Formats: sequence, C-alpha cells, structure tokens
Amino acid sequence: MAFSTLLVETRGKVGLITVNRPQALNALNSELLAEMNEALDGFDRDPSIGCIVITGSERAFAAGADIKEMASLTYPGTYIDDFFAGWDRVAARRKPMIAAVAGFALGGGCELAMMCDFIIAADTAKFGQPEIKLGVMPGIGGSQRLTRLIGRAKAMEMCLTGRMMDAEEAERSGLVARVVPAGSLLEEAMKTAETIASMSLPIAMMTKEAIHRADEVSLSEGIRFERRVFHAMFATRDQKEGMAAFVEKRKPDFKNS
Ligand code: CAA
Repeated sequence: MAFSTLLVETRGKVGLITVNRPQALNALNSELLAEMNEALDGFDRDPSIGCIVITGSERAFAAGADIKEMASLTYPGTYIDDFFAGWDRVAARRKPMIAAVAGFALGGGCELAMMCDFIIAADTAKFGQPEIKLGVMPGIGGSQRLTRLIGRAKAMEMCLTGRMMDAEEAERSGLVARVVPAGSLLEEAMKTAETIASMSLPIAMMTKEAIHRADEVSLSEGIRFERRVFHAMFATRDQKEGMAAFVEKRKPDFKNS
C-alpha cells in the first residue's frame, strides 16, 4: 500500500509509521489523517503486529494541524463535518502505540504524541500547544490529555501562553516516559516496541485498556475493572505459559491465545 504523507513499514512484530510531509514540518492535514487511519487499520488486521511506533523526522514529529488547510474553515462546516473526529479513531486503537518524538511536537503534533500510550523523546524534542497564538485552542484532545499528563498548572501555562517545553522539562513533568539522545531515538523506540511485541498480545492490550480506564473512572471502579480483567487473564493459555516458563526457568513462548 503506497501512502503519500506517511512511510509505513513492518519490522518483525512492530508496525512503524513515519509522518512524511517535510515541506510542511509534518503538519497534519486531512489526507494524512485518512492515511494514518488506513495504516493503523492495516496493523490492527495483521495478527503478527504486537506494537506500533509513530515517528516523524529529526526536525519535526509534527508542527501541528495544517494551518493552511484550516485557515478558511467555517463554524457550520467544521460542525457538520465533525472536523478532527477522525483523530478519535487514532486515539481509540487497542494495540500498544509508542510515539518517538524528535524536534517539534506542536499543537496537533503534541496531541498525536499524547494519543499514543507513551512518548519516547529525543533530547531535541520540543512540545507545545501554541494554538492560542492562532486564535484557537487545542482541538485534538490537548486540553484534556495534557492536563491529565502534566497537571492543571502546567497545562494552563502551556495552553494560555503557547510556550514550548523542552525534552528535559517534558520528562520531569510526566509528559514523556524517557529522553534519549537524538541519534538513537528510533533504535530505542524500536527496541522498546519489540519488547512489548514479544509479550502476549491480548494481555498487553488488556493492560493498555486498564491503564486508560484510569482516565475515565473513579479509583474504586478502576480497581474493580482491573480485578475483573486480571481474573479473565487466567482463562488464557498465555497466563499458563508465562507462569510455567517462570517455574521452569525458560523464556515463555506466548501464542496470543
Ligand atoms: N501547518 C501548515 N504549515 C506549517 C505548519 C503548520 N502547522 N508548521 C509549519 N508549516 C510550514 C511553514 O508554513 C513553512 O512552509 P513554507 O516554507 O511553505 O512557508 C514550512 O512548514 C517550514 O516552517 P517555518 O519556515 O515556519 O520553519 P521555522 O523553523 O522557521 O519554524 C515552527 C518552525 C516554530 C514550528 C513554525 O513553523 C511554527 O510555528 N509552526 C506552526 C506551529 C503551530 O502553530 N502549530 C499549531 C497548529 S494548530 C493545531 O494544531 C490545532 C489543533 O489543536 C489541532
């Protein structure tokens, strides 16, 4: 499948998507959104894929939604088309997804990174929600996900001033899981993705679902959900295999069943 805004490849059990609009610092336009969902649909359908990595270029993960495409939009038009709703499909993916971020991750770029399950950042990464400077606010989940990840004070400051946060501050604030040297970003992200993809896929997916549940429900409801899912795991062969392998001092051979 050929894409015009993305490079899409499979490396072993990892699906790799590289945002590829260098002329616009990887700005996210409608065509890219459609292609992103098409690429993710393909990885969802492929049972051999256990983890997905989304990355950009050295200069930009993505510098935001495409301002030139948005500039002339109208309120009735955005409302009728439910403009940006396609990003909800990206965020709702069930296989683990890692964002490998170098350079600018601004506006929709920061929001795309936050839709992934966690972010590994190069030491060159710069995060921001600068929409206010354009007379709008974050529109792909930034006001909600950033607040949950870094807390209200910092989210307010970021969204109201539009300032950028470097990788070190992003790690300190809980926005990113880990900062690595720019030269080894993809290697580190792929290594992490391979580790995840070597686990039982249904168990990894259930773990992801349980952690995301924490954003939606009370602590007691979340713990109840966790307990039910934990119990259900004993119905899988992979639980038997994982525990037998530990006892027998060997590597587990998960069958995703
Ligand atoms: N949309 C469309 N084109 C963009 C873009 C964007 N978000 N960001 C950069 N580009 C384009 C520039 O227009 C420029 O194209 P031309 O060469 O044709 O003029 C090209 O990419 C290179 O950009 P710059 O010349 O500006 O590069 P720079 O190094 O001087 O600056 C930058 C880099 C600070 C990231 C600057 O490009 C910038 O501020 N970009 C916009 C960032 C932004 O406001 N993002 C939020 C978008 S709105 C949004 O995302 C809404 C939402 O919540 C979904």
